[in-house]
Amino acid sequence: MTFSETSPSDNWHIKNVRIVDPYTHTDALGDIFIAGGCFVSEKLPEMLTLDATGLWAVPRMVDIHVHFREPGQEHKEDLVSGSRAAAAGGFSAVAAMPNTDPVIDNPALISWEGAHGREIGLIDLWPLGAVTKASAGKELAELALMEAAGAMGFSDDGKPIASGRIMRAALSYATMLKHPIVQHAEDLDLSEGTVMHEGQISHRLGLPGVPAAAEAAMVWRDVELSLLTQGRLHVAHVTALGSLEAVAYAKRLGGPVTAEATPHHLLLTDQAVSDWQASPITKVNPPLRPLELRDALRKAVVTGLVSVIASDHAPHHDDEKMSPYPQAPYGISGLETSIGAVFSSLLHTGLMDPLTLLERMTSGPHQALGAWYPGVVPGARADLTLIDPELLWVVEPRTFYSRGHNTPMAGMQLKGKAVATMLGGRWTMREGQVLA
Ligand code: DOR
Ligand code: ZN
Repeated sequence: MTFSETSPSDNWHIKNVRIVDPYTHTDALGDIFIAGGCFVSEKLPEMLTLDATGLWAVPRMVDIHVHFREPGQEHKEDLVSGSRAAAAGGFSAVAAMPNTDPVIDNPALISWEGAHGREIGLIDLWPLGAVTKASAGKELAELALMEAAGAMGFSDDGKPIASGRIMRAALSYATMLKHPIVQHAEDLDLSEGTVMHEGQISHRLGLPGVPAAAEAAMVWRDVELSLLTQGRLHVAHVTALGSLEAVAYAKRLGGPVTAEATPHHLLLTDQAVSDWQASPITKVNPPLRPLELRDALRKAVVTGLVSVIASDHAPHHDDEKMSPYPQAPYGISGLETSIGAVFSSLLHTGLMDPLTLLERMTSGPHQALGAWYPGVVPGARADLTLIDPELLWVVEPRTFYSRGHNTPMAGMQLKGKAVATMLGGRWTMREGQVLA
C-alpha cells in the first residue's frame, strides 16, 4: 500500500513505530490506532495499516513563535502558506505573532485569525495578541478581551516593551490571565543600527554589532518584574549568557518564567555571517552568536533551563531580504528546517535523548503558553508527526511551502525530517506533500 491509494481521513493502524510521547513520558516501540479523528485503544475493522518501521511517532508538535504576515504583508506569507509550511515542517499547532499590519491588538482580529485558521484546517493556529496598542509600547491593549476571543499569549515581538512601567503593568495584568506575556528582550538604544553580533567577526567584517548585553540587560529587568508581580513571563529566543543566568535566578526563586531557543541559534554561529560573505541572509534578531554562546544555549536546552524550542519563523520576500545589509529585514524562514536543525544540533551530536529533546517541541511549549494536550491516549485528538530521524537531506529553500526562502541553512545537509503530519486523524502532509 502507498499513501496515494488512501484518503486523508481513513482510520489507521500505524505499526512498528517508535512512540516518543513526552506528554505521557513514553518512549517505546508499539502500534497506534486512530479512528474518527482520535486515538483508540485497539485495532478496529477497516483500519488501513501503515508499517512505520524506522520512524518515530510524536504527538502534537507545536511551534509557539512564528510570523505569518497576514494581514498586511501577504507577499511574505499569508495564513494559507504559513499553515502549509507548518504542516510540511511536521507541526500540528503554531502560535502566530501579532506584528502584522495592522497589528493584532484587539479581540475582533484575534477572532478573525482563529476562524481563518480553522477554515484552512491544516494546523491549530493559535493567535497571539499584542501587549500594547499597535505594539507602540505606550498603552496596554485589551488583554482579557483578546484572551476571551482566543488569544493564547501576548507579545510585542519584533519590538521590545521598552518601558519598565508598561511591562510591570502587563505582568500584573497577566496574573489574571491564563496565558503569558512573551517578551522579545532587547535594549533598543544599544542595538540601534546594528546588523550582527558584536565580536571578532563583526570587527573583521566592519559591520556594526550588538553585544549580548543588549538582550541580557532586558531579560534581567523582565525577570525582576515577573518576580515582583508574579505575572507569567515567557522570554523569546534567548541567546545571551546573562539571559540564561536571569532565567535560572527566576526559577530558583520559583518565579513563573520560561524561555525559548531557536533552531538557528542552536545550529549556527556568527561564523555564518562570514561564510555567507556578509549576506543579509544571515541577518536575524537576536543575531547569530559565537560558538561559546551557542554551546551554552545548547546546554541550557539539555538541562531544561530553556524548556521550549521555537522557530521564530520570519519569512521575508527575496527583494527586501537582499537589500543592502542595513536596510534588509531581520529574520529566517524556519518552519521547514526546524526538526532537521534541532536533530542535527542536539540529537545526532549525542547531547540529548529523543524523549527529552522532543519535550522541548511538545509538552514544554504547551506548558509555557498555558495550554494542555493529553498525548497518545485513547480519546485524545489524533495530532501526530511521523519523523524519520536518520533522513539526510539538503535544504533547498525553493522547495519550501513558505513564501519566505530566506535561510542561511540553504545548501546545508541536515539529518532528521518529518515525513507525515496528522491533525485530528487527517493527514495534512504525507511524504513531503501538503494535502489541500
Ligand atoms: O529576526 C526577527 N524577525 N526577529 C524578530 O524579532 C522579528 C522577526 C520578524 O518579524 O521578521
Ligand atoms: Zn523576536
